[in-house]
Amino acid sequence: METVLSGIRPTGNLHLGNYFGAVQSFVKLQDEYRCFFFIADWHSLTTHPRPENIRQSVKTILAEYLACGIDPEKATIYVQSDVHEVVELYLYLNMNAYLGELERVTSFKEKIRKQPDNINAGLLTYPSLMAADILIHKANKVPVGKDQEQNMEMARKFARRFNTIYDVTYFPEPESFHFSDKALKVPGLDGSGKMGKSEGNAIYLVDDEKTIRKKVMKAVTDAGPTVPHSEKPEPVANLFTMMEIVSTQDTYDYFNEKYNTCEIRYGDLKKQLAEDINTFCTPIRERILEIAADNAYMDKVARLGAQKATESAARTILEVREIIGFRP
Ligand code: ADP
Ligand code: TRP
Repeated sequence: METVLSGIRPTGNLHLGNYFGAVQSFVKLQDEYRCFFFIADWHSLTTHPRPENIRQSVKTILAEYLACGIDPEKATIYVQSDVHEVVELYLYLNMNAYLGELERVTSFKEKIRKQPDNINAGLLTYPSLMAADILIHKANKVPVGKDQEQNMEMARKFARRFNTIYDVTYFPEPESFHFSDKALKVPGLDGSGKMGKSEGNAIYLVDDEKTIRKKVMKAVTDAGPTVPHSEKPEPVANLFTMMEIVSTQDTYDYFNEKYNTCEIRYGDLKKQLAEDINTFCTPIRERILEIAADNAYMDKVARLGAQKATESAARTILEVREIIGFRP
């Protein structure tokens, strides 16, 4: 059976971009594959968070994973730092990861720009840690959003390189996985680009109804079309993309028709969109609050996950040590 794996850094609450770009696929895949979904807390150390922040953020994402429907009986849900074997593989992969190729990674170049006072080795070797996450369970499919494509390319490269150096066919080459024919990019509603925490334009799964309504009503639009069937400029196209994601086809068609005949009233569209986002988020929010209050349950899930993930990781490390020439 093929293995599916993915992780998210605990740097805040999950937003609609995280959900529709990644977590939704986790939930769909858990019935058919051997699945590992983890919280990438080691990765979050690149920005030097405080211990209390890490503890809180890890708990938050765990509650949100569960509230979204990831089932700890079906999938292995774990915290990355609970599985020490990952670090050993990270070390091995780093020995065959070259400075030049790591420096060329776009997200590294971006980080250098954003945090010039903290260009640490963890940032540089982010792709080898991510590859270690994936290869430790010999994952085949990795559901992630479009922005992770380059990291996935690196993971494949490191897998191939390991196989070549040791003349084995040990690691499978992991591929990104999307349900639709291309990676889904959930847009921001602030005029351009994608929804993201750092973009400051995110609608979070825990946002209450009033907050969601406020965020949607503030979305950027324009003066409206004057020529029938004209192309939608980005801010408006983004609203429609969001509608395509959360609303019914009928609702989308209704407003699309209004746009094409130049009768669109953006206020009406936003009201409908806010309502549809709320219909989607409200039950999830209620579950998040319920699960987050149950420390004993979350603890149990994390322990079970750590145990299952460690078993799988330990098997890989045993074999990798043997391949490299160490005592197993
Ligand atoms: P953020 O951009 O808010 O910091 P992350 O980088 O932590 O989010 O992303 C976690 C996961 O969610 C990744 O798999 C990423 O590809 C996906 N993701 C994040 N934002 C979006 C978006 N707007 N559309 C689609 N997928 C997204
Ligand atoms: N880099 C991913 C992100 O920023 C998080 C991540 C770390 C990950 N390790 C992974 C995703 C392994 C998939 C597989 O969102």
